[in-house]
Amino acid sequence: MLRDIQEQILKLKKEKDVCILAHCYQTHDILEVADYVGDSFGLAQKAQKVANKTVMMCGVRFMAETVKILCPEKRVLLPEADALCPMADALDPQMLLQLKEKYPGYAVVAYINTTAELKTVCDVCVTSSSAAKIIKRMPEDKILFIPDKNLGKFIAKQCPEKTIQTVYGCCPTHAQFDASEAQKARKLHPNALLLAHPECDESVAELADFVGSTTEIMDYAKNSPEKEFIIATENSIVQHLGIDCPEKRFYPLSKNFVCRNMQLTKIASVLHCLEGDYGEEITLDEETRLKAKVCIDRMLELGNG
Ligand code: 13P
Ligand code: SF4
Repeated sequence: MLRDIQEQILKLKKEKDVCILAHCYQTHDILEVADYVGDSFGLAQKAQKVANKTVMMCGVRFMAETVKILCPEKRVLLPEADALCPMADALDPQMLLQLKEKYPGYAVVAYINTTAELKTVCDVCVTSSSAAKIIKRMPEDKILFIPDKNLGKFIAKQCPEKTIQTVYGCCPTHAQFDASEAQKARKLHPNALLLAHPECDESVAELADFVGSTTEIMDYAKNSPEKEFIIATENSIVQHLGIDCPEKRFYPLSKNFVCRNMQLTKIASVLHCLEGDYGEEITLDEETRLKAKVCIDRMLELGNG
């Protein structure tokens, strides 16, 4: 029974002094046993303050690496070792060094969806909810934004005072849909607002009533007086909103809006990882960790408040 598994998880995390952090894309049964649920920025902020000896990151690898970068003294566990972000793995330091040569004088702003190794050659990290604020606060005017061109273009519109160069990279889950999918959903649900993540194709973001991070989308829908919403991000958000606001209606932009990597982690993965015979402990060599920490620290400094 699900409840028995959840109770076992709660008991074990207490006994073993484990804090469970979960990204909003995790399934609801995992959110129920988590100590904190949030978007990438919220998770990084929370990681700085965790008092427990061990942190389990229910999400994808770059999120667990961020926790390890910030908390080297803690054990950091990723319950499903294969939970990667394909966008984060698409760009390596060698490729970025070539791009830097092409754009001399540009500050490199990296979406947090990048590997720890890549972060060592970037100037500052951003997340979808903090990118515009951070870029506006940076003294540099010329920005090379990697690796998500859709988020980069969305941010460029909010920061017209900066020169923002994007490069080709995207989230395979979000970028698979274009305006035609959004128009189809609008036709099916003419009274619904369209809420989109900035990783969506530019043509979807342009049609949206609101564009924001996972947490921002959920807050917007909860606080809106409107009753119907089309959700243009991973379908777990449709599930969470349906549970949190049963009086409202939430429709997925597409039934295929699924991040296979985020959905790899199941409630049983969390239990088995806590039992000690499943998942992976994240390790980083100290040189990589310290170099990668520079751009995460800068993100937290410029993105707070
Ligand atoms: P958020 O920072 O909005 O949670 O996004 C993370 C992510 O991977 C979205 O695909
Ligand atoms: Fe990466 Fe996209 Fe999955 Fe987010 S939804 S973790 S960006 S593949």
